[in-house]
Amino acid sequence: MSNETRSTLIEFAPSVPISFPLRIFSALRALIWVTLINDSPLTWWCQQGRRNERADMEGPVYVPGAPDRMLEPGKAVLATVDELKKFKPFLLQVIVRTPHGDPLPHATIDFWQATSAGEYAYRSYALRGRLTTGADGSVEVLTISPGDYGAGAALRTGHFHMMLQDAEGRREQLTTQLYVCQANNVKGMNKDFLNYFRKSRPQNMLRAWSIPENNGGKAFNEFPKLPSDDIESLKRIEWWNARLAEQGAGIKIVAGGRTEIKLNEKPGWLGF
Ligand SMILES: [Fe+2]
Repeated sequence: MSNETRSTLIEFAPSVPISFPLRIFSALRALIWVTLINDSPLTWWCQQGRRNERADMEGPVYVPGAPDRMLEPGKAVLATVDELKKFKPFLLQVIVRTPHGDPLPHATIDFWQATSAGEYAYRSYALRGRLTTGADGSVEVLTISPGDYGAGAALRTGHFHMMLQDAEGRREQLTTQLYVCQANNVKGMNKDFLNYFRKSRPQNMLRAWSIPENNGGKAFNEFPKLPSDDIESLKRIEWWNARLAEQGAGIKIVAGGRTEIKLNEKPGWLGF
């Protein structure tokens, strides 16, 4: 994007309402299709859970039709400036690959998450959006860290939800969750409510980093410090901090992480 284009400030993650009929449809879809059929433990395990080690359940709060959140190729913004100020900026990089490990450009990710206070939006597509990988199979998303929600035996560990699809339609759609645990301690996943229905999937925990100097000298969520020789990540962070400065937000990225996900080839008849 040229400096000329940037002379007009781009609004981060503009608000898009969810219509009332779509809210009703999503609730019915969640109740009947997702909870009773797709996410029921046996069906889930026979389908995605068996085929892709990164698969996870969809859960009941997905709403179809989320808006495109791309700022420019390979770079997306999911949170508003107000949300970034309130909960602090978090930079997630997702790299999508073929089963052989080659990067998958133009893959789409339907992405949704709760706020750091563990709240989902249902009246608008806040913290929901569609992302697309760039030529290197990677997409960076400027967002906030998802918080735990629920209570007691129904507690969910903080997580990002993702539904991934390749542009050519040759690979199987993958539904997954990416967990954010304090100090990257995998024990944080032991308390998750979904463990009653499927075994804990520690491979779905994000290995996050933090930049204490951007967070008053304190490591965000006790994540390890981003190594100072990770020049590539530092360059990406610098780019995003410049965009935050343009917004006059007075904040910088405090934490983030990177995950790589492989999509399977489409299965044959009856999923085998
Ligand atoms: Fe969730």
